[in-house]
Amino acid sequence: MKNLLSRALVLLSTCGILLLPAARAQDQMRAIQLQEFGGPEVLQLARIPIPVPGPDELLVRVHAAAVNPVDTSIRAGRASGLSGAEIPYVPGFDISGEVAAYGPGVTGFRVGDPVFAMLDLRRGGGYAEYAIVKVNEAAIKPEAIGHAEAASVPLVALTAWQALFDTADLQAGQTILIHAGAGGVGSIAVQLAKWRGARVVATASDYNHEFLYSLGVDIAVDYRTQQFEDFVSDADVVLDPIGGDTQRRSLEILRDGGRLVSIVGLTEAGRNPTRGIQATSILVHPDAEQLGRIGELMTSGELSPIVSHRFPLSDAPLAHQQSETRRTRGKILLEMAPEG
Ligand SMILES: NC(=O)c1ccc[n+]([C@@H]2O[C@H](COP(=O)([O-])OP(=O)(O)OC[C@H]3O[C@@H](n4cnc5c(N)ncnc54)[C@H](OP(=O)(O)O)[C@@H]3O)[C@@H](O)[C@H]2O)c1
Repeated sequence: MKNLLSRALVLLSTCGILLLPAARAQDQMRAIQLQEFGGPEVLQLARIPIPVPGPDELLVRVHAAAVNPVDTSIRAGRASGLSGAEIPYVPGFDISGEVAAYGPGVTGFRVGDPVFAMLDLRRGGGYAEYAIVKVNEAAIKPEAIGHAEAASVPLVALTAWQALFDTADLQAGQTILIHAGAGGVGSIAVQLAKWRGARVVATASDYNHEFLYSLGVDIAVDYRTQQFEDFVSDADVVLDPIGGDTQRRSLEILRDGGRLVSIVGLTEAGRNPTRGIQATSILVHPDAEQLGRIGELMTSGELSPIVSHRFPLSDAPLAHQQSETRRTRGKILLEMAPEG
């Protein structure tokens, strides 16, 4: 009888259905957990219970998680209005891993499926060995892409997709100015704009120009020593991850009726555009369908993840210090190497 029961439990758990929340609550995982907001040192490695997936949720065994500037803002206590983050808090919005279990109502995913996902900005939880992922946040990871590279993509690629295509309606043959072209968002935005068939002018420090040309940029401008106004005029679209005076000056090089999309908020000038220009500020949101299309572009080689730094989970403070330099090319990753 005992044998029969345990065989039934094995069968159910291999189907992914989690029946034993009380038993699982005993299970612990390593995670970076904040007990207070502050400097990078508040990113403490902790042992906490493995979360239990509810309806329409996956439990994903995380192989890698990406660091985004918003993570550092939340950690420092500057963005809790945006995220609703409450202590104790596990940061992280980008993950790649495999489905370990799922809650009721889940269809389309099986235990063992490799997935990558952007977690909702109000939730987080990616800097951990296991994370809860809603089905509408995840897509199947492309086979040819490793977990680390896949984890680097969701938030920045969705931001670029929603800015360039959903908001600016970028078309083939149009000219786009992409600021911070070597950064996490910029390096993906450049590739998506080239895939769409646009002409791309991008700003970066001179040491990143060769990199930008390798991504297909038509003109790279050193924002430290050159004026982008000398290289682009009558642009159709500007992607603005910088704000301030850069945003104000960018409005000047747009054609009449052009579009500026900011991902850092609108300045006074951006709130009052002239000449029929549309200026919009956006906040990225998870979108499984868009993520699936982004995955297809990675499979076909039209979109390459750019990873410049990898840290073990326990080095999350170092990863945040690197992010806060604002000099990172592409993305920073945390990898969940097995203990020991
Ligand atoms: N609203 C949203 O949904 C959303 C989504 C994602 C990100 N964001 C925000 O967008 C911003 C960019 O994010 P990210 O992930 O791309 O950041 P990131 O990867 O940390 O950006 C680093 C890059 O910024 C470049 N940079 C710094 N100052 C610059 C300037 N004045 N002009 C041009 N380039 C400059 C650096 O280039 P060099 O090394 O070449 O100088 C570096 O490559 C952040 O503030 C982030 O919070 C918002």
